[in-house]
Amino acid sequence: MKILAIESSCDETAAAVVEDGRQVLSSVVASQVEEHKLYGGVVPEIASRRHAEAIVPVVSQALSDASVTLRDIEAIAVTYAPGLIGALLVGVNFAKGLSLSTGIPLVPTHHLRSHIASNYISNPDLKPPFLCLIVSGGHSHIVMVEDYTKMKIIGRTRDDAAGEAFDKAARTMGMPYPGGIALDKVAEDGDAHAFRLPRPVVHDAPYDFSFSGLKTAVINLIHNAAQKGTELNKADVCASFRYAVVDCLSTNFLKAAQDLGVSKLVIAGGVSANRLLRRTLADECQRRGYQLFMPDVSLCGDNAAMVGSQGYYEFCGGNIAGTDLNAFATMPIDALSF
Ligand code: KG4
Ligand code: ZN
Repeated sequence: MKILAIESSCDETAAAVVEDGRQVLSSVVASQVEEHKLYGGVVPEIASRRHAEAIVPVVSQALSDASVTLRDIEAIAVTYAPGLIGALLVGVNFAKGLSLSTGIPLVPTHHLRSHIASNYISNPDLKPPFLCLIVSGGHSHIVMVEDYTKMKIIGRTRDDAAGEAFDKAARTMGMPYPGGIALDKVAEDGDAHAFRLPRPVVHDAPYDFSFSGLKTAVINLIHNAAQKGTELNKADVCASFRYAVVDCLSTNFLKAAQDLGVSKLVIAGGVSANRLLRRTLADECQRRGYQLFMPDVSLCGDNAAMVGSQGYYEFCGGNIAGTDLNAFATMPIDALSF
């Protein structure tokens, strides 16, 4: 079964054709990142306008790259939540128009569930149940994936997402948006033990995260040094900060796995491209005899191939929307409504 997938939740306009949830026939991503860099972050109004310009050529390209026409497509999967509302509405309205004019069923797909599904593409043998750490620009969750469309939130961030903390720390050091990628690279040459940074914990919620105190600590470190005219080694600051974030993520994730008795672990989302997170979890999982699955780095960021994969499982689970489908800025991963 071939699915046309559409993604426009943030600053990437993407379309893909995916067969039976696992085989990517085409994947096109038009990134707006260069324009948002000028402002140090995503400007929602600009994002919506760029999606409106890009959506038709991106979808046409995805169909032609896959050597298919709409006649070969059996469902249209579209990201409908969560994300920037104006950005989501571009993809949702385009998909609705296409569904209305062709009669092809419309499958509303949750963005974070799609991030998880990037693993079904990279790891063809992976099947639920498993425990997943989802770390993106807007979310940090530990989720028990009981089945393809049945999930339970085990832990979540109480304030900033991990990606957001990476981006803010990087911006304070003058790195361009999205700074998490640049910070990760610079950190490779630094000493992770050069600066002691806090590991915030949430009282009585061992699987929850809190990154705002850690973010403030690194920003204060940088500002205090600037006020005193002291030169800080940038690579050491990046490495110490990255180590602190990864320590919090991996400690809670591994504790949840141990407490729940789950030995199949998965990571997903933009921050799952982080080199230290991948190395740390690979080492820890090997030591404990756990299986660890990760998406290819090329599939960690926003794309529509992952939407086509999750869309297939949503379709199989009967999640089909009418043309009154709306977009939602927020939506829990474990209790969808549309
Ligand atoms: O999943 P994603 O592409 O978009 C959202 O759904 O939010 O995640 C983007 C986030 C950004 O904050 C970006 O800085 C972060 O993922 N990111 C990284 C790395 N690559 C992307 N953070 C740390 N290390 C990386 N290598
Ligand atoms: Zn994302």
